[in-house]
Amino acid sequence: MDILTSFDDFQSAALSAIGRAGSPEQLEAVRIEFLGQKNGRIRDLQKLVGQATGDQKPLVGKRFNEVRTAVTAELEARQQQLEASKSSSPVSDFDVTLPGDRPVFGRLHPISRTITEFRELMGRFGFTVVEGPELEDERHNFEALNIPEDHPARDPLDNFYVACASATLGGPVLLRSQTSTVQIRTMETTPPPVRIVSLGRVYRPDTIDATHSCMFHQMEGLMVDEHVTMAQLKTVLSLFARSFLGPDVEIRFRPSFFPFTEPSVEVDVKWGDHWMEIGGAGMVDPNVFKAVGYDPEKVSGFAFGLGIERFCMKHYGVDDIRRFYENDVRFLAQF
Ligand code: PHE
Repeated sequence: MDILTSFDDFQSAALSAIGRAGSPEQLEAVRIEFLGQKNGRIRDLQKLVGQATGDQKPLVGKRFNEVRTAVTAELEARQQQLEASKSSSPVSDFDVTLPGDRPVFGRLHPISRTITEFRELMGRFGFTVVEGPELEDERHNFEALNIPEDHPARDPLDNFYVACASATLGGPVLLRSQTSTVQIRTMETTPPPVRIVSLGRVYRPDTIDATHSCMFHQMEGLMVDEHVTMAQLKTVLSLFARSFLGPDVEIRFRPSFFPFTEPSVEVDVKWGDHWMEIGGAGMVDPNVFKAVGYDPEKVSGFAFGLGIERFCMKHYGVDDIRRFYENDVRFLAQF
């Protein structure tokens, strides 16, 4: 029968077109060509159903439904096949215009992490981060800090003097032995009020052991205003230590001496059952204010210098400062 032959032709043409479709887009074009509601070839078959005479009608109608169901099923099966091969094919998935995924190599050194955290913490307390040079002159490392010529801290054997002439620094040049240099540099260029921290390397020819290294890091802090008090200094340092080491950390202040602060204290935190010194602090000495052109009658201030390695050791439970600089990946990979 002609009508049924047309149905067979339609089915085999549709199935082979579906088999040839190599992409979801091509498959969609095949679907529209054969099953499209408006102009699909299925419309011709529908017309044939309409032309069928009385007794042919049930058979033709049944065949029409069979053909349409078969083609639709085949379309769906092929569609799933194409989707599956698309997502598993590395080539079709690979967009050469996208930036590559960078493999993770290495990680931040514990000291760098600590420095970043210190900056953030002090930033929240309202302190601005400033930088200073590691190569210094005697004015910034000693003189303006009220450290006289005959002070033992200026002994050439206790400092790393550098044999070089500097266009910007006057007189002998040394690797800074403390970040207090940045206090001077800041006050020289900024009128009060001042609230800064500066974090960086310092150098001392110390004998190296579990708690001493000839290069280490300090965080210097300086706050100057009309009425700055020792109570504020203690509050800032206590808050800082608790924020970094935990709310239960014990901190204590011992009377001490520094040429650039009066009164001066040494700051300790409790490590296990003993106290560990983490830095020095005090009220800025009037002579320091005079050296930078501030009026000690009008302003007061506090300063502190904390050893970053010491904090880092306490924080991560590292018992020997040398671990930080041996570059043993088994140690570094733990952070
Ligand atoms: N500069 C001192 C040191 O290196 C620490 C310190 C800084 C003390 C600021 C008082 C005020 O030991």
